[in-house]
Amino acid sequence: MENKRGSWGSDFGFLMAAVGSAIGLGNLWGFPYKMGSNGGFAFLVVYCVLVIVVGFALVLGELALGRKTGFGAVGAYKAMCKKHRWIGLMGVAAGFIILAFYFVLGGMVLRYVAGYFVNILGGDGFVGQGTGFFGYLLYDINSIILYSIIFIVISCAIVMGGIKGGIEKFSKVAMPALAVFLIIVIIYVASQKNAGAGYRFMFKPDWTYFRENFFTVLKTAAGQMLFSLSLGMGCMMTYGSYLPKNAHLQRNATIIPIADTAAALLAGCAVLPAVAAFAGENYGSGPGLLFHTMLQVFGNMNGVMGDLMGFLFFLLIFLAAVTSSISQMEVCNASIIDRRIEKKKAPRRPAITIFFALSAFIIGIPCAMDAMGSGGAAIKAPFEFLGLTAGSPGYQMWNSSWLNLYEFISEGILMPLGALIMSLLIGWVYKTRTVRRECEASGQRFKAGVFFSLCYKIIVPIIIGIVLCTQIIDLII
Ligand code: TRP
Repeated sequence: MENKRGSWGSDFGFLMAAVGSAIGLGNLWGFPYKMGSNGGFAFLVVYCVLVIVVGFALVLGELALGRKTGFGAVGAYKAMCKKHRWIGLMGVAAGFIILAFYFVLGGMVLRYVAGYFVNILGGDGFVGQGTGFFGYLLYDINSIILYSIIFIVISCAIVMGGIKGGIEKFSKVAMPALAVFLIIVIIYVASQKNAGAGYRFMFKPDWTYFRENFFTVLKTAAGQMLFSLSLGMGCMMTYGSYLPKNAHLQRNATIIPIADTAAALLAGCAVLPAVAAFAGENYGSGPGLLFHTMLQVFGNMNGVMGDLMGFLFFLLIFLAAVTSSISQMEVCNASIIDRRIEKKKAPRRPAITIFFALSAFIIGIPCAMDAMGSGGAAIKAPFEFLGLTAGSPGYQMWNSSWLNLYEFISEGILMPLGALIMSLLIGWVYKTRTVRRECEASGQRFKAGVFFSLCYKIIVPIIIGIVLCTQIIDLII
């Protein structure tokens, strides 16, 4: 019988798609600025520890549950136990919210690609704003929306192509290209004056910030780690469900976190030394960091060379963003497609893809309109709707802009909650042997069983539990 769900064409193809899902704006845009505002080196250490004790186990768990059941997030939980279906639905909701702001960010990246392209052709791609362009773009809502739409159309086209013919095919080209471009930019940045200060910020042990802000650093690093590895909402589960039974799960589950962390580090090595060289070591400037700093970097290079490098760099970010947004779309898609196939109906992949993309676009519009929370934007930031003003008691990061609000709901609450529940279920209900058996099904020995068991049962629940508590306390006080 023809497999209507689709499957990966090769192990390499799967890896590129899964690594492509993991490596995205989270690594290239999020990681450098979060590291920049959270104490540099200490953040890096906490992040790496979390990848080891939380990330590996969760990636493996998701891949195993996905492949074992052969369904995406919703179907997989339902197959394990009928009553657990809602956990999958929660994941789909998280994916959907992420998609909403991801489209906007992807659109902004695409605007930069277009800007550099026009510059290369001899025009003025940054409408007279030069390196101050980011401040201008935030208020240029029409452009943001227009480019978001282009970004969405491209993502849809790939997802409609299916697993092997769309997602895998694109990722196999995009990911290696990304690695090459990133290294070129790093080498260039390294050759700049004062870049050294950026490396010192990244790698010189300094625990002062960490000691004073332990919980903030922990929860930011944990949220970032879950987001970056696409965990806690069934994304790896969905990708795992398209894997053949002979794929080596443990090997894949090891490669994905390593590649993702390496990419985050490389992104840090491109952006933070660039901040040192061109932006007066102002590492903590927040979400705009990538957008304004890199514009300065390339603006400082001679003429066409700078434009060419800028074009390549933002093109690379764009590729990474696309391979991630398609994975979020696929989580949503699979939840419906699985059900339709179960009911013996035609999958209707294109129609479902368009439905989700369009709805996410609409939900994302406020993110495109509030100028990331800066004053005087076309619409109010959420805190203003709630009657809070900056500095008032209930005012927090999460309600300072729509983007932050969406990030808070998805990355701050739903994903950790999903990760916590999955870990507890694997540890105590389905039992670690479910994962072990699935890994052994492909004929390999299950390694580090005690470690994984300990992770699922105790380590992950404790760490993610603390993170969630901190998050909720932040919400109420
Ligand atoms: N991991 C991606 C990034 O770092 C984003 C992403 C893709 C994601 N798929 C996901 C995040 C699923 C959460 C869930 O940018």
